[in-house]
Amino acid sequence: MSVWAVIPAAGRGERMGADMPKVLLPLLGEPVLWWTLSACEDCGAIDAVCLVAPGEVLREAERWGFRKLLRTALGGKSRGESVLAGLEELPGDAVIAVIHDGARPCVTPQTLAAVAEAAREGGAASGFPARDTIQQAGTDGFVEATPERAALWAVQTPQAFGAAAIRSAYRRARAEGFEATDDVAVARRYGIRVRLTAGDPGNIKVTSPSDLAAAAGILAARTGRTPGGVRVGIGIDTHRLEAGRPLILGGVTVPYERGLAGHSDADALTHAVIDALLGAAALDDIGVHFPDNDERYRDADSIALLREVRAKLRAAGYRVVNVDATVVAQRPRLRGHITDMRARLAEALGIAPDAVSVKATTTEGLGPEGRGEGITAHAIAAVAQYGLLR
Ligand code: CTP
Ligand code: MG
Repeated sequence: MSVWAVIPAAGRGERMGADMPKVLLPLLGEPVLWWTLSACEDCGAIDAVCLVAPGEVLREAERWGFRKLLRTALGGKSRGESVLAGLEELPGDAVIAVIHDGARPCVTPQTLAAVAEAAREGGAASGFPARDTIQQAGTDGFVEATPERAALWAVQTPQAFGAAAIRSAYRRARAEGFEATDDVAVARRYGIRVRLTAGDPGNIKVTSPSDLAAAAGILAARTGRTPGGVRVGIGIDTHRLEAGRPLILGGVTVPYERGLAGHSDADALTHAVIDALLGAAALDDIGVHFPDNDERYRDADSIALLREVRAKLRAAGYRVVNVDATVVAQRPRLRGHITDMRARLAEALGIAPDAVSVKATTTEGLGPEGRGEGITAHAIAAVAQYGLLR
């Protein structure tokens, strides 16, 4: 095992603003970090991988079955600390360390191999000649110098070094309190010469939500996978009408002589919407998440359950795009309550009322709803992966 990839993936993803680690956000149907590790797995020049990430990410990554993922480390407060934590885990016979950000999923095996090869004679960092003119500005915002563009490179990861040399450089940097945003600066400070190798402008870093869409486009073009992103689900719920119960639909209490019977507040419309949303994300159904033999859900406010479902979707990497529903009820007339129902559902889902549609129909007296025995709601919902439509 002579060439090791060290993958720092322990950042907080603050600029992404998601409620989950950004390296686990879905990208063309796989987590961001899956693509990064997959490029390492496919790169013949890399023997093994050391992943640096919080426990939650490590547990997930270990399930993906990459053969080369042999070591792990927990990250530190800064990227530099995380890189050093990974370098400290490498075995004594490691010759080359290829350091590559977990947040750069579009890296190709070729780019990884090029730095690994170049690092046999000193350090190597992948990048490409600057495409834009780069100006140097002072703190007052005025341009102070126009460096010659021909000499300027945009530098990314991967960056590769002799494993022992870069480890000792990072140890010294830590001892001296020297913090840098990339490995070249640390290497050069301690005398390692670094060559630039031709990388790929498509090797972007996923930093903010729009980068996810860009990365999806790049990977879609390369792999032929479609940036699907939007998924739909269906939900249906029926409850009996009984005397002595309030009639609650879409979180709105509708005045009527009878109401829907059930363990919770029996809000059939909200239940159908919940099942449609869970279905769109293939997250089982309402009964699995909120069992009707669980005392916690006796007379539960279904709108509060809907809020919980929204959080579950978010944790799985989805946002709600729109919902459409039809309530089948012979009586009472629901027309005058539709606007309120849409507003309540939209508020719980954190989307605009015009992204929530509620309709009502009778069955001309036919069937159980037509005979007034109960009310049924049908719903359909669309959800999208974060980053594609945000
Ligand atoms: N990284 C790390 N440990 C840290 C900080 C960053 O391993 N303490 C990793 C990130 O996971 C990422 C790479 O370094 O793969 C580049 O960092 P960046 O893009 O800045 O990611 P985050 O720090 O997660 O994002 P943000 O700065 O927006 O919080
Ligand atoms: Mg950061």
